[in-house]
Amino acid sequence: MKKYTIALLLLTTTIYVKATSNCWSNNSISGNYPCCPEGTPIQYSDDEGDWGVYMDNWCGIVKNIKTTALETTKTNKPAQTSSASSNAVSNKNELETDLCWSMAGGFPCCSPENTNVVYRDQDGKWGLDEDGNWCGMKNSVQLWNDREKNKETKNEWEAFKVKWDKEFKKDFERLSVFPGEDETKLNFGWYSTTKTLPSIRYSVNKDMSDAVQYDGYFEQHYKLNGTQYYSNKVTIEDLKPNTVYYYQRLLNGEWEKPVIKLKTRDPYNFKFVFVGDPQIGGSHDRFSITNNYERVLTLNEGNRNDAFNWNRTISRSFEFANKPSLLLSAGDQADEECKHLEDNEKGPMELLNEEMQYSAFLLPDLLKSVPVAAAVGNHDASNNNFRKHFNSPNSYTDPKYQDLIPGYNYFFRHHNVLVVVLETNYGYCEDFSNVIEKAIKKYPDVDWRIAMFHHDIYGNGVTHSKEPYIVNELRPCLTQLFYENKFDLVINGHDHVYTASKFISYDNNNYSVSDIKKNKVYKQPKGTFYITANCSTGSKLYDYYKEDLDYVYQNSQTFSATFGILDFKVEDGITKLSIASYDVETYEIIDGPYYFEKTAQCWSKRLGK
Ligand SMILES: [Fe+2]
Repeated sequence: MKKYTIALLLLTTTIYVKATSNCWSNNSISGNYPCCPEGTPIQYSDDEGDWGVYMDNWCGIVKNIKTTALETTKTNKPAQTSSASSNAVSNKNELETDLCWSMAGGFPCCSPENTNVVYRDQDGKWGLDEDGNWCGMKNSVQLWNDREKNKETKNEWEAFKVKWDKEFKKDFERLSVFPGEDETKLNFGWYSTTKTLPSIRYSVNKDMSDAVQYDGYFEQHYKLNGTQYYSNKVTIEDLKPNTVYYYQRLLNGEWEKPVIKLKTRDPYNFKFVFVGDPQIGGSHDRFSITNNYERVLTLNEGNRNDAFNWNRTISRSFEFANKPSLLLSAGDQADEECKHLEDNEKGPMELLNEEMQYSAFLLPDLLKSVPVAAAVGNHDASNNNFRKHFNSPNSYTDPKYQDLIPGYNYFFRHHNVLVVVLETNYGYCEDFSNVIEKAIKKYPDVDWRIAMFHHDIYGNGVTHSKEPYIVNELRPCLTQLFYENKFDLVINGHDHVYTASKFISYDNNNYSVSDIKKNKVYKQPKGTFYITANCSTGSKLYDYYKEDLDYVYQNSQTFSATFGILDFKVEDGITKLSIASYDVETYEIIDGPYYFEKTAQCWSKRLGK
């Protein structure tokens, strides 16, 4: 729905329509609209549903659930996402319900005698009734992260819903803090609504006395919902380790308050948190108790659910890591794919939805004091909003593809770690080779070389891992580059299921594998270790192949939000890295730890150790 279209029709009439939980337009991405009286004809359809006009006002048309269900056959069941039996663990913190969950999609529940499970997806277990129509099995375990069901965070969640709807979702000027070229710098990016010089000033004093100011630049971006946005980029320099700083942003010509505290960490003992696909908004269309299972979640409700869960993943993982230095996010920050940008009606609505998802991604306060390095996911690649929000360091600005550059290949150093982040929506091996060569040339004296990109070239998810583009284009090119350039670790996402590889090397124009084991220290392993991280909000959780793939060491689908920790230490001339992944809610270990050690190289001499 376009606001200006709606505006043409707005009259002063107040419509009374009985509020029911299946009135999805009450919580539309375009605003709050009443639902239409029964029998109102469809005037317009978009991703959220069908719209009608009643007394010169837009209204949402409620699906006639009974009719839909009766018309349903095996062939038009909603999108199927997972065909496997699950190893999901029933969560003690979940609210229990006896409601018929499948009614959210217009499907009745199976009779108690009908226990033959024909299919299983994220929403529950499915059977067929005696006429061959789909029915939902009551009391199925839901396999996605519906915050509404969590008892422990109930009060926090109720307060968040109000704040999200009234305030949070509308702020598209949130600050992104990215790593700078090295640990002495930070790169800031944000949208503004005015053409004013962007600046960041920082000080070691809380009252901002003796602050040092860094000015950046802005460029005109795009107009959305009648507001012109500008993309702002600023870099600050000369940050020292183990130091507390305070900083402010100059937004639309005014210094923001309060000032933000930022602490740099110990060069010999620091941690990165890593996550796969936050996929904020991915839970739209899920069957949820939010609406008593009378309809699926709207786009806004999906964004809101995942925004809360993302904040939860950040706060829980940062608490566990005890103040990490950096967050690595392996792509698909936002779920909205913006498939209809050419469509004058749907295009603006999709962009609005995507911006709400970016707003959610940047919402956690903790991300103002810990930089995030993000990769471009396939869901982030249909426009350049990623590049306009985020200020990537050492960006490779001249890739072979030029028509649309969603975001760049880039790299940075953090003390003794080189991180190369690739944009793998375009598989130009020459670009990847150039970026890696530049990165190694600029930062040769590091102990650890890590790559991150979205597409999992050694994952085993059923959704993507066997796609020809991944297997035949990305895998051979990147395996060789990482092996020959001695990369220790690669972090991917994309498949929404956790996989850890064996050590992967490259011989005779093909990959080869060497064994790996948890809880064992590796000093000179042959090859690179690949981790495919699961969806870090739990909005979309998929299955993995049960067959043995020669490169897979571990896989896991807990159907819960997860995160990983890279723990770097230098002790007695030995530089150490341990890697493990955890459940957000329970801190239960999902995989690892894997241990790696090397003799510390010359970077540590340069730092005087
Ligand atoms: Fe994804």
